[in-house]
Parts: sequence; C-alpha cells; structure tokens
Amino acid sequence: MSRATSRNASLAVRAKRADAEATLKRVISFGLLDRSRKVREKGSYVEIPVIEPLSGCEVIPQEEPEYYRRTPNLAEALQGELPPEAILLLPRGWYILGDIIVVKIHPALAPFQILIGQALLAFYPRCRTVLRDFGIEGQLREPKRETIAGIKTETVHRENGVLFRLDARKVMFSAGNLKERMRMSLLGKDEFVVDMFAGIGYFTLPMAVHSRPRKIMAIELNPNAYHYLCQNIHLNHVERIVEPILGDCMKETPQGVADRVVMGMVQVTDRYLQKAILALRPGGMLHYHQTVPSWKYPAAAAKDVIDAAAALGRNAEILQCIKVKKYSPGVIHAVVDASIDRIF
Ligand SMILES: C[S@@+](CC[C@H](N)C(=O)[O-])C[C@H]1O[C@@H](n2cnc3c(N)ncnc32)[C@H](O)[C@@H]1O
Repeated sequence: MSRATSRNASLAVRAKRADAEATLKRVISFGLLDRSRKVREKGSYVEIPVIEPLSGCEVIPQEEPEYYRRTPNLAEALQGELPPEAILLLPRGWYILGDIIVVKIHPALAPFQILIGQALLAFYPRCRTVLRDFGIEGQLREPKRETIAGIKTETVHRENGVLFRLDARKVMFSAGNLKERMRMSLLGKDEFVVDMFAGIGYFTLPMAVHSRPRKIMAIELNPNAYHYLCQNIHLNHVERIVEPILGDCMKETPQGVADRVVMGMVQVTDRYLQKAILALRPGGMLHYHQTVPSWKYPAAAAKDVIDAAAALGRNAEILQCIKVKKYSPGVIHAVVDASIDRIF
C-alpha cells in the first residue's frame, strides 16, 4: 500500500518485544500491515505499522514514521517526452549491480532507450552506467547487453558482506538467486567443497567468507568469469580456502573426496550428475540446480538425482527441493539437496 492510499497512514500496533513476532503474524493474517512503512523498535516495544486498528491490540498514532523508498516510476518521469503508447511499454523493474543499472526494454522502445537510460541514472545519483539486457546465452552463460547510458561496465557489487567485482557486459550475476547465495553462506564449515560451475564465485564466495570451509575447489570454464573469480578471491581474502580452476568440470572434478558438491548451472546440469556423485564421499551432500516445468516440480528434478545415483550403485536421499526463482513462464529454477550414500 502506498503513502497516498494508506487509510490511517500513521497508525501502529504497539507490542512488547517478546510478543512482537506473534503480533506481526496476526496483523499480516488480518491483511492490516501497512507495507509502505517500516516495523521499528522503540525502547522495549515494537511498532507495527497498520492501515486500520486491530481489535485486542494497543494502537497508537506513530510519530515520525519511517517509509520504504518507493520504486521510482519511469512513466511519471518520462510523461510528455514519449508518445502515450510508448509510456505503456516502459519497464517497471530493473536491478542494480554495484553502480550499474541493468534493465530489459521492450523492442518497440529502442528509439527511446537513451532517454530511458538517462531517466534511470537521474533516479540513482550514485549509479554511473545503464545496460540494456537481452538475456543470457549459451553454456558459458554470457550476457547480451548494450550500454545505453554511461561508459564504465566494470563494478564492485557488495552483498551479504561479500564483494563481487565483475564486468556486467561480460559475465552474468543473477539478482534472483539472492536467497540461494544467502543459504550457501551458512553451509560448508570445515568441509571439502567442490563448486563445479563457479562463475565469478556466486556460491563459493559467500560460503568461503561466512562458513570457512577447509577447502573449496571452484571450477569455471569461461575465461572471463574465471578472471573475476580469481580477483574476487583476493578481494575477499579467501586465498587460503578457495582454489580456482580454469577448465571443464567434467575433467577437473576430483573423485571420492568431497563433503559437498554445488552444481550451480541449469538446463544441462543433469549431464554432469554422475561426475558430481562420484566426487562425493559416502554421506556427502549434493546441491543439484535444474530448470523444471512447474507441473513437473519437484518430482522431475528429484528423479534426475535418484536415477543418476542408482546408475552408479549409490543411494540418493532427497532432503529437500527449493524453488530458487521463476526461470521463464511455466518454468522453475529449482535446487535439490540430496545426501548421497552407498547402497548397503
Ligand atoms: C549459470 S552460471 C552460475 C550462476 C550462479 N549459479 C548464480 O547464482 O548466478 C554457471 C557457470 O558455469 C560455467 N560452466 C558451464 N559449463 C561448465 C563446465 N563444463 N565446467 C565448468 N564451468 C562451466 C559457466 O561458464 C557459468 O559461469
């Protein structure tokens, strides 16, 4: 709900800290949370912004409420500068990597892309470049992007205490995989990990920085991504943990030594499953990423793992299947966590 549409814009339910979580759940279940304002702590109380009073709760007028920043609106900014039919096609979302804005633009808006780029830069004074995004291509997952404002395309993106240096025209960085990167940052302590599709260190770096595995072998085939992987290992001071390897994981993956194998690739990942399973010692953990039609989720992804393990005389226990993000209409990017054992 926006500031303008919020009915009682500055009301808040006041709850004792100990009761705050339960009260927040209750407010949400009644559909009364005002999502334009922040939940905030005040002394021994927590203030939960609401659009209407909730019976049984203490409701107060909130002093100096804190608002979330509203996503800037390109249609408002470019009103009068573009024909009305073009205004309707303007992008409503984009993402920011370091100081670079990445945006998908409707083909019919190509004549206006410079205007769109300048309007986006005006929204974010700390940003310096805008890239038009045409998607990711091929086995090396190379982005197709065009610079529509600014010049510089190399940047340092900071996320969850990890620094990722990258050239946003040369290597990908999936904003949608944030939750999975956060999850990986909690796993792997003291383990031997193999990251078979390491990229610039999407999963390797959060794990190395936060969980401190004994060793991570980070294998990457794309020389551009490998270049930034090496830079990022130094930038994050994890040289003693991460060994970068430029090459094909089909050849470089070691056998029978890993406590954990990460397969952060989609579409063709099943071809590498047996290699990954062979890398694991008994009891090791596999993270198998794959794209799956939504009507086959999660069974199809889990079946890939079970079948590959069975073909090697090993048993895969599926622990969970997680939706990483929507990949395309009707297709889910999923990750399967499986514990791989010998068949006894
Ligand atoms: C999809 S990207 C990683 C994306 C990442 N999971 C994320 O969260 O954004 C996969 C990487 O695997 C690399 N790759 C593809 N085939 C490979 C292979 N056979 N061996 C090693 N790396 C490979 C690609 O070059 C790419 O950098």
